[in-house]
Amino acid sequence: MKILVTGGAGFIGANFVRTTVRDRPGVNVTVLDALTYAGSRQSLADIETSIEFVEGDITDAGLVNVLVSESDAVVHFAAESHNDNSLKDPRPFLQTNIIGTYTLLEAVRKHCVRYHHISTDEVYGDLALDDPAKFTVNTPYNPSSPYSATKAASDMLVRAWVRSFGIQATLSNCSNNYGPYQHIEKFIPRQITNILSGARPKVYGAGQNVRDWIHVDDHNAAVWRILDSGELGRTYLIGADGELDNVSVVGLILELMGKESHDFDYVNDRSGHDLRYAIDSSTLRDELGWEPQYTTFREGLRATIDWYETNREWWEGDKNSVEARYKAQGA
Ligand code: NAD
Ligand code: DAU
Repeated sequence: MKILVTGGAGFIGANFVRTTVRDRPGVNVTVLDALTYAGSRQSLADIETSIEFVEGDITDAGLVNVLVSESDAVVHFAAESHNDNSLKDPRPFLQTNIIGTYTLLEAVRKHCVRYHHISTDEVYGDLALDDPAKFTVNTPYNPSSPYSATKAASDMLVRAWVRSFGIQATLSNCSNNYGPYQHIEKFIPRQITNILSGARPKVYGAGQNVRDWIHVDDHNAAVWRILDSGELGRTYLIGADGELDNVSVVGLILELMGKESHDFDYVNDRSGHDLRYAIDSSTLRDELGWEPQYTTFREGLRATIDWYETNREWWEGDKNSVEARYKAQGA
């Protein structure tokens, strides 16, 4: 089997490629990645000889057409993925997340290639803090940020291509991932690397916002489960019942790193900041038999902290510029 993994040099894509190379020797992996600020070849350095790496853009129809024609399946991770960046400059989000997805869809349609679309729970908007509800596949789309609006648009394109053209596609919408190789602009690695750099963690607003954390390996195991036995045309929600508010997450990071749990700063809130995400993943569990393996957030977080501590060369070069960007927005 030959799979094309877009965005394979990013956080979730690189972890997907790494576990695929390790666990599925019969699968040949080609990575297509534009190596934006969020992509790093270093994340694949020790497995480079086991994969084919193509540096290129998913909006390049000629290149995408050739690569898709040589593949049995496409797993589409590539995206502009950071909400804060989308508030500052939405344009690359429209280009990559919408036009890029459209470009891939046209190629899989032409060559009748199996396609899996990676998306986010943010397409559903947010839930109230005191609401017992969780997102299901029946929750209406209601995205809040330019990022999540472009992801919602890309999901809609996939659904339309399934219905109108009969492409062989599945979709998944996952909650917040954590683990190794995550860019340090994101919440958990930003706080870990702040502490490792002698700075204090920064929490937006009152820090009450809730995210539903899942380890990246559990997300990727679910993606493989869907590729192996998911029903074509269906959407699957992926989550591990990991709801925690931001102050609790920062407190745990501080405690695991030997600091006082209140040793952080409150900073400017994000505009339009979603309050709470929560995923009902019962369909994935009941129908496809998937279960998360990282059931203790504390242990997964401890391993993630260890990874950033022992892989300083992977992130240290980016730290000053990332923090300069945050400083400019008062965060
Ligand atoms: P990331 O920002 O870490 O990585 C994105 C990758 O895509 C990078 O390697 C980048 O170079 C590449 N890329 C960007 N634009 C490209 C283009 N035009 N052509 C080719 N490559 C391009 O993102 P991530 O956190 O790994 O997210 C991966 C996917 O998972 C995204 O689709 C995102 O919406 C989705 N998702 C993320 C999370 C999360 O918690 N991080 C949760 C649910 C869903
Ligand atoms: O829910 C899935 C989504 O999770 C993905 O679709 C996105 O690609 C991914 O980036 C993530 O989006 P969030 O906006 O939830 O993640 P982020 O890491 O940016 O922020 C997590 C929470 O922490 C959020 O409530 C904002 C807050 N935050 C973030 C940063 C960077 C802080 O309090 N301080 C910070 O420094």
